[in-house]
Amino acid sequence: MAKSPTFTCQSCGASHSKWSGRCEACGAWNSILEEAPLSSGPAKTALGAARGASIALSDLSTAEAAPPRTSSGLAELDRVLGGGLVPGSAILVGGDPGIGKSTLLLQAAARFAQQGLDCLYISGEEASAQVRMRAQRLGLEQAPVRLGAETNLRDILTTLDTVRPALAIIDSIQTMWADNVGSAPGSVSQVRAAAHELVSFAKRRGTAVILVGHVTKDGQIAGPRVVEHMVDTVLYFEGERGHQFRILRAVKNRFGPADEIGVFEMTGGGLAEVANPSALFLSDRDAPAPGSVVFAGIEGTRPVLVEFQALVAPTPHSQPRRTVVGWDGGRLAMILAVLEARCGIPFTGLDVYLNVAGGMKISEPAADLAVAAALLSAREDAALPADTVVFGEISLSGALRPVGQTENRLKEAEKLGFSTAIAPERSKTGPGTGLTMRQMPDLTRFVGEIFGAG
Ligand code: TYD
Ligand code: MG
Repeated sequence: MAKSPTFTCQSCGASHSKWSGRCEACGAWNSILEEAPLSSGPAKTALGAARGASIALSDLSTAEAAPPRTSSGLAELDRVLGGGLVPGSAILVGGDPGIGKSTLLLQAAARFAQQGLDCLYISGEEASAQVRMRAQRLGLEQAPVRLGAETNLRDILTTLDTVRPALAIIDSIQTMWADNVGSAPGSVSQVRAAAHELVSFAKRRGTAVILVGHVTKDGQIAGPRVVEHMVDTVLYFEGERGHQFRILRAVKNRFGPADEIGVFEMTGGGLAEVANPSALFLSDRDAPAPGSVVFAGIEGTRPVLVEFQALVAPTPHSQPRRTVVGWDGGRLAMILAVLEARCGIPFTGLDVYLNVAGGMKISEPAADLAVAAALLSAREDAALPADTVVFGEISLSGALRPVGQTENRLKEAEKLGFSTAIAPERSKTGPGTGLTMRQMPDLTRFVGEIFGAG
């Protein structure tokens, strides 16, 4: 019996028996495409007729050495990988087009190759000459990286099987084309098939494979969210195009901590590592200005100080604007509501703009108090002292909650020359902080003490 075609959502990968305008699984519109079914394995027979082989089983106590790791020589990359590259691991590096993924991976390939790792860089997007030109611009043309320009998955796998490199970089997974899948390159089935083949190759042969994936506007890797589940490590390369900072963020890592970040700066000669991000993020800071507040944050295992900037102004519109860059819009609405309901400070009739300086994205709830401070400072037109950092979570009741790693936050602030910290009551400061602590039980007290209102 001929198999009927399947319809696959290009956004979430769900399959449907017929086409429709909206995917019932994820709610995306116009995302369903017809795709030829995958060629099936042995014909289905009665249970037991087509038997597989027995798999080898072991117990949990079998001693396992820690995986050997190769350092890239780029400390920021090694940290995000969990201490270096693990043989046979599959890594996905996602990011907006043009953010610098190819640049980063070419630099990484060169560094790995210089450490003696056999390194293959396969570009499906650029011709070899283009990659070579980029290498020259980066001063890496002498690095013993082997270069290929190809999109045919079968040819790539054959090459990998012959060459057996220690590391293969595939730039990008969306350009790969498997000839046994009847849909266009970049579609979910193609990406899924290509990723599956490459990841299986990695596991089978012990080659580390890095897949580059482009991301769509809404922050998801185009279609192949499915790839995230197949690989060991998912890294996102983030940043604002207009800013020079780039953040490499681990969102999943089977071989190390997730949420770790590496910070880079895009220069004329490629990506430069930033060993002390706080100093960089605060380097453009002017004299204390209303609306500007320094937040002592934690990214992964590392404390990072960033500046929140707020602007509050009477609105000419009937519906006031709420614009946020680098922070969650829902969380901003919550803080505005708490300020209004618990402290009696309304923002009706006022436009609110909130920005994280330097193009950094903050997701910690610990930034709540810094956001509230920036909003109040902007609204009251009163600057906070320049030597002050702020952190703490705000609950809907208006109470302030202590946050994790308080000691690390304070140490970093002290290192960068700050002398006062505003934090929730009962924060575990630990011994030996040189900072003056101003601990507050709730938002009302904070407003009263810092802005003399409330
Ligand atoms: P690229 O690595 O091609 O991005 P992706 O692979 O994520 O699409 O990065 C391209 C951008 O980086 C491009 O706009 C130019 C900039 N760039 C520099 O600023 N300096 C450099 O040394 C290089 C190689 C690129
Ligand atoms: Mg690229």
